[in-house]
Amino acid sequence: MGIKSIKDLDLKSKRVLIRVDFNVPLDENGNITDDSRIKAAMPTIQYAIDQGGKVILMSHLGRPKGKVNKAQSLIPVARKLSELLGTSVNMAPDCIGGEVKEMVDSLKPGEVLLLENLRFHIGEEKDDPEFARELASLGDVYVDDAFATAHRAAASIVGICRYIKEKAAGFLMQGEVNYINKAIREPKHPFAAVIGGAKISGKLEILENLIAKVDKMVIGGGMAFTFVKALGQDIGKSLVEDDLIGKAREIMEKAKANGVKFYLPVDCVCAPDAKATKGIETTTIQEIPSDLMGLDIGPASVTLFGEALAGCNTIVWNGPMGVFEQKDFAKGTFEIAKKIASSKGLTIVGGGDTDAALHESNLSDKVSFVSTAGGAFLEMLGGIELPGVKALES
Ligand code: 3PG
Repeated sequence: MGIKSIKDLDLKSKRVLIRVDFNVPLDENGNITDDSRIKAAMPTIQYAIDQGGKVILMSHLGRPKGKVNKAQSLIPVARKLSELLGTSVNMAPDCIGGEVKEMVDSLKPGEVLLLENLRFHIGEEKDDPEFARELASLGDVYVDDAFATAHRAAASIVGICRYIKEKAAGFLMQGEVNYINKAIREPKHPFAAVIGGAKISGKLEILENLIAKVDKMVIGGGMAFTFVKALGQDIGKSLVEDDLIGKAREIMEKAKANGVKFYLPVDCVCAPDAKATKGIETTTIQEIPSDLMGLDIGPASVTLFGEALAGCNTIVWNGPMGVFEQKDFAKGTFEIAKKIASSKGLTIVGGGDTDAALHESNLSDKVSFVSTAGGAFLEMLGGIELPGVKALES
């Protein structure tokens, strides 16, 4: 079913209620440490301003669970937004209620108001109809640009659509959905998925969904050791999910049945633990010492994975190849980032750690698309219909 674009709506002098995802990391002094999600929503906000809309922005921040927590106020975001827009952004004391209504009513075309954290009200996460109705009463039209929260059936995402007739996706939402769909629904082959991270458990759906679509599956990170153990090999002290060994075996069997080339690391950087700065050695995957754990893929795996990815026309990457936060175990992730960034195919990267690794290696602008989402990206790759996307369908 079709989803309207913000461009299909008449915004002039209308109260344009935009759901954004300003769930940004803050340090202990309330400073925003990564403003990429705010920047990613700017095209939609700027467009609504330029069209003469009265712009009302709403978001959650953190998980306050229905209680007001000053440390999770959106005030620092209002400051950042004012800076980015070059115009003052008004901050509402709440997201519903009489005072907020008055502030909305006094907005002039082109002005921006940011509502306070939606999750200060329990009704947000519970998709409470009364809360959704109150939010909806603040807008004439509704725009959802919060792809990173599209996997949450919240009042500001799902319930609200029952009360506002005019609804559309913002540019960020459209971009995210289009790119991810392009990869998983109509990929140009050869299509490779590079999946890493610590555990298989959070990624079962992705692995199972993608194994039916890709030509190559490349596995790195801690999760690789569960697969290696499933092949009957010793993995020393490496991270393993023993209860998922059967599942790992099943995935590899499915890969074989589907003709998918399945790549596991052939060597790894090992150490006594993830914090170690001594006793670090590189071994083949078959010879991990019993008192060490694998914490990064080794150079031979980088070469192997690089060759597997060369010539692929679509690559999706989620999850680091090792404990990249520690210098000694970062190389594999950064090297794979370089290989993906140098691909001429469509390259889509998503997930908090993966984005951070790409950002750190200054390669974000070298891939086709970097998703702003963590959970929503994973769920969409896993073939799950996102409530936030469904709610926009007309
Ligand atoms: C995210 O950061 O993934 C989104 O903002 C959703 O946040 P949540 O996991 O707290 O619902």
